[in-house]
Amino acid sequence: MWNGKKDLLSMDQLSREEIEAILHYAGRLESLSGKGSKLGICKGEILITAFFEPSTRTRISFETAMHTLGGDVQNFSESGSSMEKGETKEDTIRTLEQYCDTLVIRDGEPGSVARYASMVNIPVINGGDGVNEHPTQALYDMYTMWKSFGRLTNLKIAIIGGLKYYRPSNSLVTGLGKFEGNSIIGICPKGLELSDKFRNSSYSEMPIDMAKLNETLEKIKPDVVYVTRLKKEYMPSGEDPGKYFYKIDASTMRILPGHCIVLHPLPRTSEMSTEIDPDPRVVMFKQVRHSLQVRMAVLALFSGHEDGLKQI
Ligand code: CP
Repeated sequence: MWNGKKDLLSMDQLSREEIEAILHYAGRLESLSGKGSKLGICKGEILITAFFEPSTRTRISFETAMHTLGGDVQNFSESGSSMEKGETKEDTIRTLEQYCDTLVIRDGEPGSVARYASMVNIPVINGGDGVNEHPTQALYDMYTMWKSFGRLTNLKIAIIGGLKYYRPSNSLVTGLGKFEGNSIIGICPKGLELSDKFRNSSYSEMPIDMAKLNETLEKIKPDVVYVTRLKKEYMPSGEDPGKYFYKIDASTMRILPGHCIVLHPLPRTSEMSTEIDPDPRVVMFKQVRHSLQVRMAVLALFSGHEDGLKQI
């Protein structure tokens, strides 16, 4: 429970001040949370991660975050569980509640994590619910921008790709929209526009022929380029993802301003060439590293340990 909120389900439920508090605590944790270091903030507590969709970063970083906070971790896997005997996800979640203090859940159905959260009395963190939201992703994306620019205001952010099916961009547009002066520009193939539900007054959109991506970016001169993957797994069967093809490569980096940083929530596929990785403006693995401190702050806050964070 933090500020009267039991769960973290969406960016919409966080105020600007609460986002700033999370990033502030993440900054303090960064100097302390070397790999293998241990804090005692969540000592004696157990986190269960229950992921009904694949994950590398979200699951492992939450588990590492809890270990680093001094707590213990159990990972639930559908494979080998009694779900193979027909047990429902709802009964599974209510069972897991009996064994832990906090749950992080990922599920393919939009809104499902909120439904599970309403059935249990312990904090639930949304690790991604279908094409809806991925709030802790947005928090560490914003942390990475804040570390680069020293602010989250008056930034020009180009979000590129298949926005219709991409939950991190939904959460990021919502979060950045709470800070004044930002111009968030969605650059997407026609047909993959951001859902209306996540638009705000900071957001504008340019559905384009993605062959013109570089010339579009050259005109915009963004401070941040946020590249997204085409979520083929969420596209209707029969739809050809190939018609939406786009790619960020060395030619894109040549036209971006010298101060512009390039982020990607990962995993990447064909939309971002590995040839650009050595460019210091490409910060996606720093972004990955920041997931640890941000998720430590989130776990500590929502499990009721703000006082512990204040003491570090
Ligand atoms: N960015 C992200 O959520 O990665 P995973 O799907 O690997 O957790």
